[in-house]
Amino acid sequence: MDNQKVTIKTLLDMKTAGEKITMLTCYDYLMASLLDQSGIDMMLVGDSVGNVLLGYDNTIPVTMEEMLHHCKTVTRAAKRALVVGDMPFMSYQVSREEAVKNAGRFLKEANVSAVKLEGGEEILDIIEKLVITGIPVMGHLGLTPQSVNVFGGYGLRGGSSEESEKMLNDAKKIEEAGAFAIVLEKIPAVLAKQITSSLKIPTIGIGAGVSCDGQVLVTHDMLGLFEKFTPKFSKRYAEMAKEMKECFRNYVQEVKDKKFPSEEHSY
Ligand code: KIV
Repeated sequence: MDNQKVTIKTLLDMKTAGEKITMLTCYDYLMASLLDQSGIDMMLVGDSVGNVLLGYDNTIPVTMEEMLHHCKTVTRAAKRALVVGDMPFMSYQVSREEAVKNAGRFLKEANVSAVKLEGGEEILDIIEKLVITGIPVMGHLGLTPQSVNVFGGYGLRGGSSEESEKMLNDAKKIEEAGAFAIVLEKIPAVLAKQITSSLKIPTIGIGAGVSCDGQVLVTHDMLGLFEKFTPKFSKRYAEMAKEMKECFRNYVQEVKDKKFPSEEHSY
């Protein structure tokens, strides 16, 4: 791993060189320092913070203030990785003016390098305006959790020929609008492969197969920390929740048994 700060150019060069791009979600300073030291290329302060840390049922209630708060903690720790802030529901859909103002806050107040927006053709003018203003944009197609109420769930997207054709066209238009990368979530691997080979900008997959230029997972899922549910596409690399509960139980028992603090931990 080299210690050079990851930039948008780095990501484009990685796509050209066929080197895979790594991204994980991150919502706080401590996790950000661990991720940064581990060589991650990008950290996404996702609005999944709503489900994972804030206890909401979905990402709809997440506010600008909550996102900015979490982004600030992450960028304080990120020395190498490029940090992307997720624009929350209703922070960019109402008008281009509001979108620019809110996206600008992510850069000015929270020091992120880019923002992510969910959606296809319907938000092209917003993507264009942000990019012209100097705000790098990452697109997000496929399963777009902010539209859960329209789709009525979190199922696979792009399964029919109409849907997959529209997604391919949307991806090309998002590239033309100036986005520097696109997240592809929960779509068939063959469609992700087709989109990836049709674009000059990198695709970052989550539940989109191995052919994407990079991969992203929700960190708390891959650590086995978030136990509520684990999507099929998320691999558990550890069982941290079980380990943590074991530690907490040991502490509780040792305090009850007057085993802690021992002399070693006393003055
Ligand atoms: O909010 C989030 O964590 C995301 C990823 C799942 C891509 O959008």
